[in-house]
Amino acid sequence: MRLDVLTLFPEVFAPFLEASIVGRAIRSGLVTVSCTNFRDFARDRHRSVDDRPFGGGPGMVLMCGPVFEALEHVEARAAGPSKRIVLTPQGRRLTQSLVAELAREPWLVLLCGHYEGFDERIRLGLEAMELSIGDYVLSGGEPAAMVLIDAVIRLLPGALGDEESAVSESFTAGALEYPQYTRPREFRGMTVPEVLLSGDHQRIAEWRRQQSRERTASRRPDLLDNEMS
Ligand code: ADE
Repeated sequence: MRLDVLTLFPEVFAPFLEASIVGRAIRSGLVTVSCTNFRDFARDRHRSVDDRPFGGGPGMVLMCGPVFEALEHVEARAAGPSKRIVLTPQGRRLTQSLVAELAREPWLVLLCGHYEGFDERIRLGLEAMELSIGDYVLSGGEPAAMVLIDAVIRLLPGALGDEESAVSESFTAGALEYPQYTRPREFRGMTVPEVLLSGDHQRIAEWRRQQSRERTASRRPDLLDNEMS
């Protein structure tokens, strides 16, 4: 898979792209990630990428020119069509099933907005999918792009080791994870449930299923009638 990120702050991605499962997937060649700075496509001597909104009002708006030119530059080195995604609180809400769909795409181009948002003609002209990671407003699309990148990469075949993949399966099944314990058996008076020490794999599996069901019912009942979301 190929991932391109278009942003005003490429430097915030560097440590994220080196660490943990994402870093390992990149190093092993499962995915390539490139960041491109809109500012490199500014035309004036101040390297402006934003301007005041027509009609007045607070804040600044990301201009069309640097965004279109950055995207055209990235896509000029194309092997096939890309899937363009604009991160915005106005977009479709990201869910695990949408993550799974996006993980099957060969090439995602993620556009991160800032300031008061994008010029509307960017939305109209790019024919991009607009995507939100939740009903709250971030200062920019970068944290949302990182959420999407992490969630997609961990679904690429080979990104997770055998032990880790079990976790993603239980999530994909539309339920919350059962509680986990490790050593010591007792910590500050809190003990590990006896069943987990029993060695009885059938009982353990049944206990975990039950815990998972109870947790989902009490914390996220919406998941029970909405598989995979
Ligand atoms: N940019 C600002 N807020 C956002 C959100 N909630 N999701 C995606 N992109 C955003």
